[in-house]
Amino acid sequence: MNKNKLNDLTFSSKLTGWYKKEKRMLPFRKTKDPYKIWVSEVILQQTQMITGLVYYKNFIKKFPTIQSLSSSSENKIYSTWKGLGYYNRAKNLLKTAKILTRKHNGKLPKNSKDLILLPGIGKYTAAAIASICYNEKIPVVDANVYRVLSRYFGIFYNTAKSNSYNHYYNISKSITKNISKMGEYNQAIMDFGATICTPKKPLCKNCLLILDCEAYKTNGVEKLPIKKKRIKKTKRFFNYFIIENKNSYLVQKRKKKDVWLNLLEFFLVEDKSLKKAKIYFLKKLKLFELKAKLISKNNKAILSHQIINVNFLSIYINDLVVFNKIKKHLKVQKIKKRRFKKSATPKVIDNYLNSAT
Ligand code: ADE
Repeated sequence: MNKNKLNDLTFSSKLTGWYKKEKRMLPFRKTKDPYKIWVSEVILQQTQMITGLVYYKNFIKKFPTIQSLSSSSENKIYSTWKGLGYYNRAKNLLKTAKILTRKHNGKLPKNSKDLILLPGIGKYTAAAIASICYNEKIPVVDANVYRVLSRYFGIFYNTAKSNSYNHYYNISKSITKNISKMGEYNQAIMDFGATICTPKKPLCKNCLLILDCEAYKTNGVEKLPIKKKRIKKTKRFFNYFIIENKNSYLVQKRKKKDVWLNLLEFFLVEDKSLKKAKIYFLKKLKLFELKAKLISKNNKAILSHQIINVNFLSIYINDLVVFNKIKKHLKVQKIKKRRFKKSATPKVIDNYLNSAT
């Protein structure tokens, strides 16, 4: 991102200028009643505007004040909420209304620091209420803000990261130094994101910021914002038993629909506990009174969706007759060591063989 751009205050001025002319006529824009703003913001957080408006009007009709809400039953509120989903929002509206009636003279606090202490009011909602109703100089950060700022300023920050809120909050602070009507700016960037700088097929041709938009200049509008969720990799624990005699190993072909299909591997016991894997293996072959020696532990096979921790245990069999009996018992195959080294095996086994010899 171009650092000089952060001192460019024309972005916020142009945006509020646009908003004055183009803002959406929404029912909660006719009021500064913090209760109504609160309800609208809670509904709109996880709901599309068109649907949200229907519910907003209905909710305000049924519960026009904090007092009417706080004296209502959860069931009545839930039936008004039916179809919106995320019922926790409704539950928290009632909970907070009761707290306000008991402790705050039935009124919402007038600043974001106190608002955020109430159930269901997070950073976004607190900033929205405080800026819209009390003109507190605090920026909102929502999906619109991530998108518009990322594109205009060319920010390649991963918005799926947990500290992205702070990152975009700080940028917003820096570019709104000249803004006196913070509520107006906050609503401007949200409206702009919802109607012009949309996630898909943004209306760049109608955009007043087009000439200074970094993403537009570099043909990268569709690529921003970056939203890369780290896939949670499954952890698995493989214990390979290297059964060998002088020239050969006992091995098997991976057949199940799983990683490393059709590759050759040593006899495998999958278990997080090395001790349990060893007991299982030795019990299975208890006739032969074997000893398994751990020779390499915690090797990692890092795949796209899995991390496999691999231990290697060695079982050396002097007697070829016993070796053949074990082969039969485990339903595995015998392979010359030299050939196995040349066969298709998982990389973690290749690595082990290369390091061991
Ligand atoms: N989305 C949620 N709250 C909004 C607001 N106050 N203005 C525009 N879009 C919104």
